[in-house]
Amino acid sequence: MMNVEEVLHMVGGAGETGYALNSKLQEKAITRTKDIMEKALKNINGELVSKGLVVADLGCSSGPNAFLNGDQVLPYYVAGVHGSFYGRLFLRNSLHFVHSSYILMWLSQVPLGIENGGVNINKGNIYISRTSPPIVSRLYLEQFKRGFLSFLQFRSQEIVNGGQMVLSFVGRKSSDPSKAELCQFNDLGLLEEEKVNTFNMPLYAASQEEVQQVIQSEGSFHIEQMQILESNWDPFDDSDDDQVFHNVKSRHNVAKCMRAVYEPLLVGYFGQQAIDDQVFTRIGHNVAMHPLKEKTKNIVFSLALKAKDLN
Ligand SMILES: C[S@@+](CC[C@H](N)C(=O)[O-])C[C@H]1O[C@@H](n2cnc3c(N)ncnc32)[C@H](O)[C@@H]1O
Repeated sequence: MMNVEEVLHMVGGAGETGYALNSKLQEKAITRTKDIMEKALKNINGELVSKGLVVADLGCSSGPNAFLNGDQVLPYYVAGVHGSFYGRLFLRNSLHFVHSSYILMWLSQVPLGIENGGVNINKGNIYISRTSPPIVSRLYLEQFKRGFLSFLQFRSQEIVNGGQMVLSFVGRKSSDPSKAELCQFNDLGLLEEEKVNTFNMPLYAASQEEVQQVIQSEGSFHIEQMQILESNWDPFDDSDDDQVFHNVKSRHNVAKCMRAVYEPLLVGYFGQQAIDDQVFTRIGHNVAMHPLKEKTKNIVFSLALKAKDLN
């Protein structure tokens, strides 16, 4: 089974295809959550932070987005911590504020049970698709729930009572995950059928209800704010119209963003030769030609959670 933590990283460096230069989509989400962040910070009781505010930004890749809002809202010392956010990272009761953007849709592993005895149940697809057996969506959802639940449990140990978290991550509006916005990953025109048949994207776009249900069942946090941010997949397209974009420039922009995020993961599995420009051009095309015949939106949930006083 693929070790997600080993293969998952963004394209590094300051080069033309690097994440640093191609993370405008993620940057927009961070900028748009500034109000949520400010309100969440105000909601932390002053007495809690009389000796200084301790902040953690989880999953900040290299590049301009790391601590982006932080620069605007608070002064602090920065330290890097190694490890998966699906495990314990910090000392008990050591944090006042946790921020994470664009990380929680990444699963800690491909869904448990999908590679059943070495046979991939989702053969022929690399994500949930209309042709996937219904059990595939269920296994993806269960994996998301397990991961998100652990995330909340570990953070609840690390955050002081009354502390806050602002979490922004890719979600979906459709109740049916096979109609969700991430389905453009299927049909990439990858030639090596045998490898396509054994690969599953370690990603899940949850619905609002699925997210709320995990938070409620875990029980350590109150949802204080929740917003759905919609943006065009082309980060340079700020128009509000609903026309499908046939525009080559837009597809190219989408392809560049996707490449900066997914290239290392896809190359790690399929090899450098299989993952050429064509694959990302195809993703850009799939986003543009979404079957709903309306401009597919990138959906991000942004939530502010307050750690409950459970004593
Ligand atoms: C799309 S980037 C987001 C970076 C940044 N937060 C931003 O908004 O631009 C996702 C980051 O999460 C990291 N990541 C994904 N799963 C992780 C895990 N289980 N533990 C730690 N980091 C993880 C990836 O390596 C990557 O740096």
